[in-house]
Amino acid sequence: MDSNEIRQRFLKFFEKRGHKIIPSASLVPENDPSVLFNTAGMQPLVPYLLGEAHPMGKRIADVQKCVRTGDLEDIGDNRHFSFFEMMGNWSLGDYFKKEAIGWSYEFLTSKEEGLGLDVNRLYFTIFEGDENAPFDEESKKIWISLGIPEHRIYALPADDNWWSPGDNGPCGPCSEMFYDMSGNVGDLSKEEFINAVNKEEVIEIWNDVFMEYEKSGGKVVGKLKQKNVDTGAGLERITAVMQGKKTAYDTDIFSKVVDTFQGYVSSTDSIEYVKSSRVFFDHMRTALFLASDGVIPGNKDQGYVLRRLIRRAVVHLQKLYTKDPHGLIKDILSDYVQKYKDTYPEILKIQEQHFIVIGDEVQKFLNTLHNGLKEFEKGVDPFLLATTYGFPVELTEELAKEKGRAIDREDFNKKMAEHQKLSQTSSAGMFKGGLANHNEKTIKLHTAHHLLLAGLQAVVDKNIKQRGSNITEERLRIDFLCDHKLTDEEKKKVEDWVNDKIAMGLNVVRREMPISEAHKIGAEMEFGAKYADIVSVYFIEDKDGNVISKEFCGGPHVTNTNLLGKFKIQKEEAVARGIRRIKAILMV
Ligand code: ALA
Repeated sequence: MDSNEIRQRFLKFFEKRGHKIIPSASLVPENDPSVLFNTAGMQPLVPYLLGEAHPMGKRIADVQKCVRTGDLEDIGDNRHFSFFEMMGNWSLGDYFKKEAIGWSYEFLTSKEEGLGLDVNRLYFTIFEGDENAPFDEESKKIWISLGIPEHRIYALPADDNWWSPGDNGPCGPCSEMFYDMSGNVGDLSKEEFINAVNKEEVIEIWNDVFMEYEKSGGKVVGKLKQKNVDTGAGLERITAVMQGKKTAYDTDIFSKVVDTFQGYVSSTDSIEYVKSSRVFFDHMRTALFLASDGVIPGNKDQGYVLRRLIRRAVVHLQKLYTKDPHGLIKDILSDYVQKYKDTYPEILKIQEQHFIVIGDEVQKFLNTLHNGLKEFEKGVDPFLLATTYGFPVELTEELAKEKGRAIDREDFNKKMAEHQKLSQTSSAGMFKGGLANHNEKTIKLHTAHHLLLAGLQAVVDKNIKQRGSNITEERLRIDFLCDHKLTDEEKKKVEDWVNDKIAMGLNVVRREMPISEAHKIGAEMEFGAKYADIVSVYFIEDKDGNVISKEFCGGPHVTNTNLLGKFKIQKEEAVARGIRRIKAILMV
């Protein structure tokens, strides 16, 4: 069974059981400055887990793109990927443990509708209980009622069987399903089970989270308004299981890129080959998906992660002495586009643009890599390597570690701060995760963002399309496709246009409608993004209903533009070929 069929079977199975299928959200959380990327399927659904009504109802299923970059050094082993797909089904205050567990089991074992896995190779865990919640007796009973022998159900502590996305938000005990990859482990005591997991003979393939609790400041503070189910099954792992491989790198997901790659390397025998080629496959896939969600390599936030991934991939590539790195990268990216275009059409749109963005970043680094590595051999100075040779500090740190050396991160940070560049500590803090903090400032900036796009179209060029966006408490940022640098006059006109609309006191109204209707009325959508059947559209309009702006958007927004204050453009610049960026603020 190939990865496409697994995805399709999963969605069909849950559709038949009353779930509405929604497309993957962007990898970059919408208007949530507290996290850089969606790291789990539940993240874009947080407002609905907290009680907001989802336009598609209470039963949802999807395959969500996820990016996790906390442990890049692990990439190259059998299980870790910086990008992966998570299949998930959700109950938003609807069904609970009995249905969730029953369907997980049925999907895993049914030959007709599911994966047809051998039940004798499956193991199960449940939450053992602590001061926050009791032993999960109910889940245990449900597994037993399905015919699972009691000794294959292991009770584990919160470290293993309590799931939350960070220090704040919905969370709860979970029940996980494991598969015996070796095929001959048999019955295991709890201790043997834990050992087998550590040795990767037995791997986790599915997690059912029973989200009825809430965390705040790292502590469980009580129950949510509703009982939810959040499930996650990693497509890469399940594909490996279905194809009898130890790792997804040996499955259909990567088969084409592996073939292509081998045409470019002189030999596959080097000690470095397995790890470095996998790092390269992994990072290029992630880079492509990030680029197609509007991320552009840069010195901060998401852009910095993308830069790091591309440069790290290039370092690993040069270890393997490949010919024609640009040709290779283009071919590998094309292979990925072919592989994913039907599932994630955003990857196909403006693909040339993605190739340019990634290719330019590769070239920039190749220009200095050789001399940078020579410099590195002379003596490790992370500051010099970062500022003169473009080595992300994490990369220098890793290269130094390979030589058994450490770098002085504090000293580096100090020098960089003096250098008026990014201070890594602020960016690293964002990896801790957390949930949307829709405070007043970001909500206002978000509404101003809609006005700005409308203003750019009204003043500069009606064909301008948004390419990406980002909002922090301090400022908004929009990336858009445009072939020229804005003149001072254009900037001034856009500012005046937006301030004029603010002064008019326009209403901001949310309406839900079928996607076909939203398209018909020409609502703005992010270039290349994919949306559900029922979407919410935000209108900015005057009292007579004359529409100034209409955008596909989940919100939230202010109710009237007169709440915004004064709008000011701070900066307009190029971020890549054909892509401009504006940063703007609101002043009280
Ligand atoms: N949110 C759960 C996970 O990521 C399903 O494992």
